[in-house]
Amino acid sequence: MTLPEVVAHRGAAAGAPEHTLAAYRHATQVGADAVECDVRMTRDGVLVCVHDRQIRHTSNGRGIVSALRLAELEQYQFGPRRARWTRWADDEIAAVSDEPDVENGLVLTLDRLLDYITATPGTVRLAIETKHPTRHTRRVEEALISCLHRFGLLRDGTPVEWAGRPAVRMMSFSQLAVRRMAELAPGMPTVQLIGVRLRPVRRELLHGTATAVGPSVAILRSDPGFVAEAQAAGKEVHVWTVNRASDMDLVRDLGVDVAITDRPAELLRRLGRD
Ligand code: G3P
Ligand code: CA
Repeated sequence: MTLPEVVAHRGAAAGAPEHTLAAYRHATQVGADAVECDVRMTRDGVLVCVHDRQIRHTSNGRGIVSALRLAELEQYQFGPRRARWTRWADDEIAAVSDEPDVENGLVLTLDRLLDYITATPGTVRLAIETKHPTRHTRRVEEALISCLHRFGLLRDGTPVEWAGRPAVRMMSFSQLAVRRMAELAPGMPTVQLIGVRLRPVRRELLHGTATAVGPSVAILRSDPGFVAEAQAAGKEVHVWTVNRASDMDLVRDLGVDVAITDRPAELLRRLGRD
């Protein structure tokens, strides 16, 4: 049986605050095959690794990423995700800022992440999810492509290979963003993500532009036959977010191609790869 590639979600969000270098380092150290990273574009066109539209749940600031300049974002400290409506305790902020991998709580730019990933080429691959596809029209995908070229991860629109697999791929919930990427970088593997309602997009998933489909694990719980159906249609299946032990067993038994998890060490153990 082929085991799924293990991808650490937002770095390895159960091991360190999401989207900090500490999380990406943790993912690398435990042996994840790849890391997943959400990117957004700041008002002045810089790609940063931030999941939410707003920064209030992962920093001590307020505002919308795409409405702030990088210099403004850098005034705030980023760290552990806090529960809605609660504030960080001062000692929590101080503890995060003292952690060298967190870089004094500075927001993680994609450039800084790629600096880290490409310092040891081939160690861990990259799955980049673009957020807010309409806010900046094509600029997010264009900036991403130019960044990947600059770091030598993309050549003429096609990713370099690491351990027999493309070093980088792009993911999005937006069909528009996936299509744009396929136009701009035809050799780039793309993953069409889908949340909870499979039926309306089933046809697009199976026959659309993307090279892979990315259902939530909740979809597979109710429709396990989708994996074989998608693979028969020539699509890889990349499943998120596989955190429960029962879901780890499910994705192994269904033969999915890629499992995205906050707990890469636990998943690797369950797959017998530790
Ligand atoms: O890898 C896909 C997954 O990350 C999508 O969900 O909300 O965590 O970005 P989200
Ligand atoms: Ca994501």
